[in-house]
Amino acid sequence: MMADERGAGQGHSEQVAPGDSHVAAAPTQPVALVVLAAGQGSRMLSDLPKVLHRLGGVPLVGHALAAGRSLDPARVVVVAGHGAEAVTKAVGKLDPEAQVALQAEQLGTGHAVAQALPLLEGFAGRVVVLYGDTPFISAETLAALAAHPADVVVLGFEAADPGRYGRLIVKGDTLDRIVEFKDADEATRQVALCNSGVMAVEAALLADLVGRLGNDNAAGEYYLTDIVGLARAEGRTAAVVTCDEAETLGINTRVELAAAEAAFQARKRAEAVEAGVALADPATVWFAPDTAIGRDAVIGQNVVFGPGVTVESGAEILPFCHLEGCHVSAGATVGPFARLRPGAELSGDVHVGNFVEIKNSVLDAGVKVGHLTYLGDAHVGERANIGAGTVTCNYDGVGKHRTEIGADAFIGSDTMLVAPVRVGARAMTGSGSVITADVPDDALGLGRARQVTKPGLAARIMQALRAAKGR
Ligand code: UD1
Ligand code: CA
Repeated sequence: MMADERGAGQGHSEQVAPGDSHVAAAPTQPVALVVLAAGQGSRMLSDLPKVLHRLGGVPLVGHALAAGRSLDPARVVVVAGHGAEAVTKAVGKLDPEAQVALQAEQLGTGHAVAQALPLLEGFAGRVVVLYGDTPFISAETLAALAAHPADVVVLGFEAADPGRYGRLIVKGDTLDRIVEFKDADEATRQVALCNSGVMAVEAALLADLVGRLGNDNAAGEYYLTDIVGLARAEGRTAAVVTCDEAETLGINTRVELAAAEAAFQARKRAEAVEAGVALADPATVWFAPDTAIGRDAVIGQNVVFGPGVTVESGAEILPFCHLEGCHVSAGATVGPFARLRPGAELSGDVHVGNFVEIKNSVLDAGVKVGHLTYLGDAHVGERANIGAGTVTCNYDGVGKHRTEIGADAFIGSDTMLVAPVRVGARAMTGSGSVITADVPDDALGLGRARQVTKPGLAARIMQALRAAKGR
């Protein structure tokens, strides 16, 4: 196809299909990643910066960062502009090693890359440029791009409908230039080979080329795409690596985001079923990019997996559960209608029943939490039984506090455990207790009013009430 052949002498096809392992050669040079994420995304009709809209529960820019991470980059720079503060915060959580460069005014993709250059100072190797709104680029495709020897390598695709994409103009077997749709004449607009926006360029060359960009074009912008023409004009090599159009899909509207979510979920559901997970109704189960479920795990209808969930082989998640940042071990059962929040760790054979919420808590093997309970910032020892309606009162309005429950403890129904507090091994709490002091091993903790019984009083009250109503 349209690859430069002088560098590698590796035949003329650079057709890259997702999953083609033979093209996933490790890049030979160090890689730095630049993710462009400064655009407003005005067509999203949203106050949220476009790259923070979520796909599979993860902000779009997180998908680009994860794809780029597969190249093991020495540096990662995200260029932020619109909503830079929120983007910076999100990037810090998604990839703590990433740096953020500010592009105060969006003067074009070339200008955006220029803002990243100071943070690439001293880096020698290949710079790979990605877009923060393009979540489906595969690791294999990026590896092929980064490993290609041409001076400037562009990721292209044959578009079913080329629309307003930049067109890749190939002469012989070399990429000659990129023409933006706005600047293209009719003949150029007939070209179906399009620019995905993803590029790989050697760092010093990139800095040199970007420094020479002008903005004398239909959009009045500094086009990154013009670096191809500049490179060719001085006899540098340029090449196209192609991938499937689906990988280059960029999100511009909420309609496109919804379609991308549907495509993403369809793929994750198929992967899960093919890996031996029992999905009762695949169409109703929602995945995050990193959801990991073992073979023979059983997942009921209407289960949502947020980021960071692992479910071991043989565990069972009953219908209508929401899980995020948690681990469910073999033999555990969860739900129906349970919520596992970040830091919930369920050991083997734990049972978590309906209307139970667990956050930042470790439940050792065999623990039972059957109904209507909140456990936060707790550790529950082996085989302990947590009665219905138990609440760890872990938050005092300012700080969070821990609850320790020993092995084989029995927490009576409707116990309020006012943290910090410890209930010892084999200890019990009486139903309805408000436990504010530690309960030693083998002790019973009671913290409730003593019952008073008045014989006949209920009947006399009823009689008086009915008389007052005239019945
Ligand atoms: C760009 C390419 C076009 C390609 C298309 C693929 C250029 C000049 N054109 O066009 O060839 O076919 O992508 O989708 O590169 N951004 C910034 N700062 C800016 C401008 C853009 O960070 O000043 C970011 C945007 O947030 C976005 C990405 O760069 O993530 C692409 O920008 P966009 O304006 O969408 O480029 P297109 O006009 O679509
Ligand atoms: Ca775009």
